[in-house]
Amino acid sequence: MVNDDFGVGDFIYDPRVYDKLNNFDGDLNYYYELAAKHNESVLELCCGTGRLTIPLKEKGINISGLDYTNSMLEAARDKARKRGLEIDLTLADMKNFDLKRKFSMIFIPFNSLQNTYSIDDVSKVFSSVAAHLTDDGIFAFDIFNPDFHFMISREKDFVEIDRFTLDNGDEVVLSEKSKYDTASQINRCTWRHEIGGKTIDQKLDMRCFYPLEMDLIVRHNGFEVVDKYGCFDKSEFNSGSKKQIYVCRKVKV
Ligand SMILES: C[S@@+](CC[C@H](N)C(=O)[O-])C[C@H]1O[C@@H](n2cnc3c(N)ncnc32)[C@H](O)[C@@H]1O
Repeated sequence: MVNDDFGVGDFIYDPRVYDKLNNFDGDLNYYYELAAKHNESVLELCCGTGRLTIPLKEKGINISGLDYTNSMLEAARDKARKRGLEIDLTLADMKNFDLKRKFSMIFIPFNSLQNTYSIDDVSKVFSSVAAHLTDDGIFAFDIFNPDFHFMISREKDFVEIDRFTLDNGDEVVLSEKSKYDTASQINRCTWRHEIGGKTIDQKLDMRCFYPLEMDLIVRHNGFEVVDKYGCFDKSEFNSGSKKQIYVCRKVKV
């Protein structure tokens, strides 16, 4: 049984904090090249504040976004407005949405599929994606390749992972501690934010998908794997890979 208590704390999805922490762009070119090949219509699920959505639109990708956190979407809308970009951004849950149209590419970047904690929830995502994907369309996502030693190493005490300054001048020291739950395969992380003498602890639960398990989930949900990489440079997936990067399509019936 998956307990209902799994989730992600509000402060993690506070756009002021999120954007300071998440300025990674090592996946942008990879998703750009993929989207450029399927550019009739592209949908990013869990688009957040538009870390990828905005630059992809600026590069000519016909992209729409969907996310269930209003403040993250508002931040994306604000960025789009300031750059004069028109992007359809929908507030909805990726497990259950109905946009009444189909896309030639749907993708879930930045490990966000790992925020689905039960077998049913993952199936709901695949089924919503299938309903919105054209017959020749592709479904792409990236997740971590579970690293047991790494997860265990974070169990003892908080380890500092970043420091940054918010726009209001507040310094934030961020540290992480985690406990891997072997029954649910969920790495239960606590992110501790120390801000001006205050401590804010936030949960960040991440479901682990083991490589063959994910291959089976893809197959079980009516898709097939077209490509699987271990890195955004498209190197092959192997046991040393930090990531599992999937490109899938619907099996034709
Ligand atoms: C790690 S952020 C990724 C944001 C963005 N894609 C990026 O690459 O920076 C995860 C995002 O997924 C969204 N999210 C998580 N679960 C979701 C769900 N079931 N449906 C829609 N959005 C979801 C959160 O609101 C958050 O904005």
